[in-house]
Amino acid sequence: LSVDAAQASARKIPETMFGISFEEINHAGAGGLWAELVSNRGFEAGGESIPSNIYPWSILGDESLLIVSTDRSSCFERNKVALRMEVLCDNEGPIICPAEGVGIYNPGYWGMNIEQQKTYRVLMYVRSSESVNITVSFTGSNGARTLATSNIVSSDVSNWTMIEVLLEAAGSDPNSRLQLMTTRKGVIWFDQVSAMPLDTFKGHGFRQDLFQMLADLRPRFIRFPGGSYVEGEWLRNSFQWKVTVGPWEERPGHFNDVWQYWTDDGLGLFEFLQLAEDLGSLPIWVFNTGISLNDQIDTTRILPFVQEILDGIEFARGDPNSTWGYVRAAMGHPEPFNLRHVAIGNQDCGKTNYHGNYLKFYSAIKNAYPDINVISNCDASSTPLDHPADFYDFHVYGDANYVFASARNFDRTARLGPKAFVSEYAVTGKDAGNGNLLAALAQAGLLVGLERNSDAVEMASNAPLFVNVNDRRFNPDAIVFDSSKVYGTPSYWMQTFFKESNGAMLLNSTLGAKTSASLAASAILWKSSDDGRQYLRIKVVNFGSSTVNLKITIDNLDSNLIQAIGSTQTVLKSSSLMDENSFKEPHKVIPVQSPLKAAGKSMAVLLYPHTFTSFDLLTL
Ligand code: AHR
Repeated sequence: LSVDAAQASARKIPETMFGISFEEINHAGAGGLWAELVSNRGFEAGGESIPSNIYPWSILGDESLLIVSTDRSSCFERNKVALRMEVLCDNEGPIICPAEGVGIYNPGYWGMNIEQQKTYRVLMYVRSSESVNITVSFTGSNGARTLATSNIVSSDVSNWTMIEVLLEAAGSDPNSRLQLMTTRKGVIWFDQVSAMPLDTFKGHGFRQDLFQMLADLRPRFIRFPGGSYVEGEWLRNSFQWKVTVGPWEERPGHFNDVWQYWTDDGLGLFEFLQLAEDLGSLPIWVFNTGISLNDQIDTTRILPFVQEILDGIEFARGDPNSTWGYVRAAMGHPEPFNLRHVAIGNQDCGKTNYHGNYLKFYSAIKNAYPDINVISNCDASSTPLDHPADFYDFHVYGDANYVFASARNFDRTARLGPKAFVSEYAVTGKDAGNGNLLAALAQAGLLVGLERNSDAVEMASNAPLFVNVNDRRFNPDAIVFDSSKVYGTPSYWMQTFFKESNGAMLLNSTLGAKTSASLAASAILWKSSDDGRQYLRIKVVNFGSSTVNLKITIDNLDSNLIQAIGSTQTVLKSSSLMDENSFKEPHKVIPVQSPLKAAGKSMAVLLYPHTFTSFDLLTL
């Protein structure tokens, strides 16, 4: 492998080359990054009609002692369904309540993670014609062990009243539930019951450990909220931003019909923009083009949808005095968010109305916001687009060999037109398992190829990002979690090798003619923000099953500048190609760093089969 370190022949990699693609899939947000513990907090999951499905809420107590149903009596206009609980027993008789009372509980998303000494804010709306005495507690999964409890006594809740309690946990259980109990006869209505830990990231509602996993990738952009989630199986169930903003209590929530679960829309457009800001990433909003997986709006009727998106952009970055900028400011963010990229649809290019609809969105957005970069769904890697766009979306899914070979996909792409945004890539099927080394290596090969082609590719992100182990809808994923634990798959760790590439200088590098086709390599010069020093990083994927003796030569670099002390090599490998990480062995396949004693202008290195290695040479 020869590397030319001359700056003159180097090229800058885009500052936003590597980022993340967040989709509400696998409970990534609801029951994941969004730290709300209560599932179906507004009792809305069964739809607007009643009786409604209150799942996963359940009844505590014998059915002869209480009757639980739903009605449309909520004080919230957009989500009228409330829970009605008629208690037939009383601690004073004639029907005596059990000592612990009767009531309802919510197990959250496969258990709530309650941790000792942490404080949780429980908020709920209550109404009753009588005074109420409600015990609010977090208990273990079967209710036997109380972790935190508080009694709410209120003499007048004849109008809907918001009640807030802070519960500090005296014990820990990752599989807890929230209970609302009483020993008083009468009818109580509940609505919008929320429980959140106080220590979310900056108090912004993001689960700390999952947020940290994202921050550790130093993503330069975040694409959201999907994926197919943006489209919906049907338009009526697609992500419609206006009902996801404003006070949380007033959000109706919606059924994510592609991935088959309810979301209360706690993670709405505002929160996505806030997440991008908190991560120091550029937000890339993918919006619906009037096209779902099964139905489409005709171009002659698309203008209301276009206006909706213009309003959304105003919400994100308009003046606080503008109609929608005002709503954002009222939510606590008077400064505009840095929204500079939008994608018109997801995987919609082949759909009948895409072209017509696209042009309407494109011209309206460019007219109102000329600086916004617009991303088309149509592939321009081999033939030019027949419509204007700043970037085009490109997805790579397939078996390991296909993904590894896709590294060359952009080698012959014309450098004149819009650049590609490889917004979703993954090895899928048998080769990927639940996220193994094989998938990570194939993807490493792809990223090396994208880096080399970063004059034709502007941005790249892996998908999906998250999976809650209790709801695997799409395999594999980068980050696996349950209510309390998290680990990165080998593919997550592979991505950490690229976080220094953003804005780095790509050096010319050539693999010799005799090297095998199962090698992929690239070289960059990057400056560490930690120690301010410059490193020459050579990344090599050995996708083959043979050990390779590789000679690396570096031209146009004074050998005195290379420092053996401080140079390192980092390898991603494992004893078996199909190895995966797990909760039991979260670090089975992770990068391992060691000193690179042989650092120099000419190095003979051994590349073991199925490995991804980064050689970091410290240069003065
Ligand atoms: O990443 C998972 C899904 O794969 C996305 O929702 C969709 O865009 C693609 O088909």
